[in-house]
Amino acid sequence: MLKTALPKIITETLPGPKAKEIIDRRAAAIPGAIRCNYPCVIKRGEGAMFEDVDGNIFLDWVGGVGVLNVGYSQPELIAAVKDQADHYFHAMMNIVTHEGYISLAEKMNDIVPVKGDTKKTMFVNSGAEADENAVKIAKAYTKRPNIIVFSGAFHGRTTLTMTMTAKKAYARGMGPFPDGIYRAEFPYLYRKPEGFTDEEAVQYYIGRLNSVFEDCSPADYVAAIVVEPVQGEGGFVPAPIEWVKAVRKICDEKGILLIADEVQCGFGRSGKLFVSNYWEEEGCAPDIITTAKSIAGGVPLSAVTARAEIMDAVTPGTIGGTYSGNALACASALKVIEIIERDKLCDRALAISEKCKERFGGFKEKYPVIGDIRGIGVMLGIEFIKDAKTREPNKELVAGLVQECVKNGLIIESAGTYDNVIRFLSPLVVTDEQLEAGFDILEKAIIKLTTI
Ligand SMILES: Cc1ncc(COP(=O)(O)O)c(C=O)c1O
Repeated sequence: MLKTALPKIITETLPGPKAKEIIDRRAAAIPGAIRCNYPCVIKRGEGAMFEDVDGNIFLDWVGGVGVLNVGYSQPELIAAVKDQADHYFHAMMNIVTHEGYISLAEKMNDIVPVKGDTKKTMFVNSGAEADENAVKIAKAYTKRPNIIVFSGAFHGRTTLTMTMTAKKAYARGMGPFPDGIYRAEFPYLYRKPEGFTDEEAVQYYIGRLNSVFEDCSPADYVAAIVVEPVQGEGGFVPAPIEWVKAVRKICDEKGILLIADEVQCGFGRSGKLFVSNYWEEEGCAPDIITTAKSIAGGVPLSAVTARAEIMDAVTPGTIGGTYSGNALACASALKVIEIIERDKLCDRALAISEKCKERFGGFKEKYPVIGDIRGIGVMLGIEFIKDAKTREPNKELVAGLVQECVKNGLIIESAGTYDNVIRFLSPLVVTDEQLEAGFDILEKAIIKLTTI
């Protein structure tokens, strides 16, 4: 059974012959700008594993970049989508109401920890669209034009979200960009200013945020501050809770909305359904939360949730879209949430996190190329460096590790402003045996690439 199999490469080369043929067709048929450095063509997937078209079996620690928290081909999910398909694929919510949209919105209003008692949710199709709509909603409610985002941020590839995204390699040649987006420094504690304690660094970063009100936009022109609770593409950097509390206070004092982008970190990976659940416990819940990726287990869907007062301030007709809240996607999402809750996948995330921290912690003791291991729950990153003192990022080693691991049947991915972080985004249904197999492949790769 693929679900419980271990990684196994049976072809002499990767890609194998059938995969190579398809990858060659890919190069001819689709733009190279849709980058891919992996020699894999999937035939079928189960749990945390997939088999390629040549019969090689891979352990997937990327999970479609955080989409597959409940794993590949969950049978109940397949049944829910098939059942919906038997009735209808699509109902456009501006024309015909479909109940799945309403039931899912009700469920999201129950579970998404935004500030306020009465909540509302709207659906779109991708993380970028959710973030873009959250900004539109914040502007409509506050009647203010500007937003603040952070260094290291990733919010997507539409023109607005490209502008919000920090890494300008993702926006090369795409300008002009929209106005009114200002950037403050994200509290990246591993790379905090030299000589600062964590507490002093948090104060420093709050100072940097406050200076945006002086240098870029008066606070009463700012509609929202948009934060990833754990930065994803930025290198799995968690926002320290004391910093979040201070940001919440600034927002409250200045009438600014706090938007949490939980597109990558949401749906169980953190050990709670959302990282914002931890924020809520500390009294600093956000005003708006955006979600996507694992929400529907691979069927395109994303959501924006906020208190009713905010949502009801939006001018009719300014949000929505043809496919938004598609019936197949809503059916899938309702089942995903049921599975996460019933199978206690948040607890499983914490158990996996313990195993990862123990093993990765051991790597850090042994291999000085590892500078930092961090994250919340099992949204974990390993930062690789060239030198412990200078912390110079080791991008080349990470690129090599990705290729060496895939040769041995483990899919991992890099992240980070400097591309020097390995991120762990395994489906939460990975077995303990598969985890151990993955740890061994990764450790052997580190040894191979760091031993001269
Ligand atoms: C935090 C975050 N926000 C937004 C996005 C954009 O999502 P999508 O690619 O679905 O548009 C991503 C994608 O990786 C993300 O990680």
